[in-house]
Amino acid sequence: MTSTLRASACKNFSVLSITRRDFFCSCGIIRGMNKKLKLITYGCQMNVADSERMAGFLKQIGYSLTEDLDAADLILINTCCVRATAEDKVFGQIGRFKTLKRQKPTLILGVTGCMAQKEGADLIKRAPHVDFVLGTGQSSEVARVVQTIELERKHFVDTSNVSGDIPSEVFPLRGGQVSTFVPIMYGCNNFCTYCIVPYVRGRERSRKPEEIFAEVKQAAAEGFKEITLLGQNVNSYAGGVTFAELLTAVDKIDGVERLRFMTSHPKDLSDELIVAIANGQHICEHIHLPVQYGSNKILKRMNRVYTVEGYLKLVDKIRAALPNVSLTTDLIVGFPGETEDDFQETLDFIKAVKFDAAFTFIYSKRSGTPAATFDNQIDDETKHRRLDELMKVQNAISLEKNRALLDSVVEVLVEGASKTDDKIFTGRTRSNKLILFEHGNEQAGDLVNIKINQAQTWLLKGEVI
Ligand code: SAH
Ligand code: SF4
Ligand code: F3S
Repeated sequence: MTSTLRASACKNFSVLSITRRDFFCSCGIIRGMNKKLKLITYGCQMNVADSERMAGFLKQIGYSLTEDLDAADLILINTCCVRATAEDKVFGQIGRFKTLKRQKPTLILGVTGCMAQKEGADLIKRAPHVDFVLGTGQSSEVARVVQTIELERKHFVDTSNVSGDIPSEVFPLRGGQVSTFVPIMYGCNNFCTYCIVPYVRGRERSRKPEEIFAEVKQAAAEGFKEITLLGQNVNSYAGGVTFAELLTAVDKIDGVERLRFMTSHPKDLSDELIVAIANGQHICEHIHLPVQYGSNKILKRMNRVYTVEGYLKLVDKIRAALPNVSLTTDLIVGFPGETEDDFQETLDFIKAVKFDAAFTFIYSKRSGTPAATFDNQIDDETKHRRLDELMKVQNAISLEKNRALLDSVVEVLVEGASKTDDKIFTGRTRSNKLILFEHGNEQAGDLVNIKINQAQTWLLKGEVI
């Protein structure tokens, strides 16, 4: 038995003691055998990437992934708190595990991520069946925390280091097979007045280029064709080179067939970046450029630090340099103090820009943020009416943009069979549009040329040529 254990253990391996499921190594690490981890991830791509990294740490102590809740020894809920609806979903999910914990007392339930950072010990007060709560700056501690709980079944909470080091000591255990995320920076310094992210993700810190390159190479070696570099605001990357330089260097890594990045704050999307995209080989012509609102009064109250005119000028500059670029955005309706005139200005603004797509949100009051204390909070009915109207206008624009692509031929990265029909495959254009096509000999990960023959608001259809 010892020799099989030895094969999967660390360099300095020597077994000190063995229990039924675990054994102890002289390096202090407890290694387990065949334990199962169920990951549940809410929120943005950064959270997906963090979950995969935590799974990487947990793999080192013997956990492998399962989709089966009943088989899980550890359930990790990686949470989001950007809007109240995100938090409600998490509380609902935690509540549903109460019975499971009662049936299986050895099950460990951990809550990590942004809401864990925000709520801390209150989460355990509200839901005592949660075993541990770990903040965003301490995800590299997850394995050690789980080991402690495996030994001494007691609650553990640590949210003390919101701007903690970016873990680079293990490679993530990646999901998916074609596209993956590589975080380049964590945190945000912008403090938009509505947003909780700077409070739960800490100050901006950038990873070293070498760490990023190593991770991209590892992902490419695992067969991933598309890499998305992630940060709350990638243009303020400060790892010793500019973001444009970093992107250009990653573009040259063997195996990277497509390169994307998000998110860009309009205030610091540089000319150098536009040139880098234009000159890049695999850098996709898609920029997610959240504008949030289309009136200067509200932009100022949001602390977005650019104007409508400045944003429009930036869009013109991007489109002049990258004629095929697709632009997407985020928009919030119902921000405190929003008048009907402000809202109409926003409708006019999106008609002027013609975004390819927009993620539209109802303003959600986040306690601790400045906007939560602003006068003139907007009532729910008005918020919903404005959201519906905004979506209607944007959907018509998205459809018009997609129709303009009819009969053109686009390069598509094949993702695999669609969920509903295995004769139909899905893929993405360089502009990040979803496309469906009838499957021939294509494999997930192939790049194929497709002629577009149908355009809908949210997707395209076509045939391989
Ligand atoms: N760092 C990115 C995205 C952050 S969160 C950026 O700055 O663009 C993703 C989106 O959630 C934001 O772009 C914003 O549109 C939305 N959002 C953030 N806080 C919100 C709130 N309190 N209510 C509604 N939407 C919000
Ligand atoms: Fe939030 Fe603004 Fe930072 Fe984006 S830039 S994460 S919206 S504070
Ligand atoms: Fe949510 Fe945190 Fe992302 S609050 S949107 S998971 S950074």
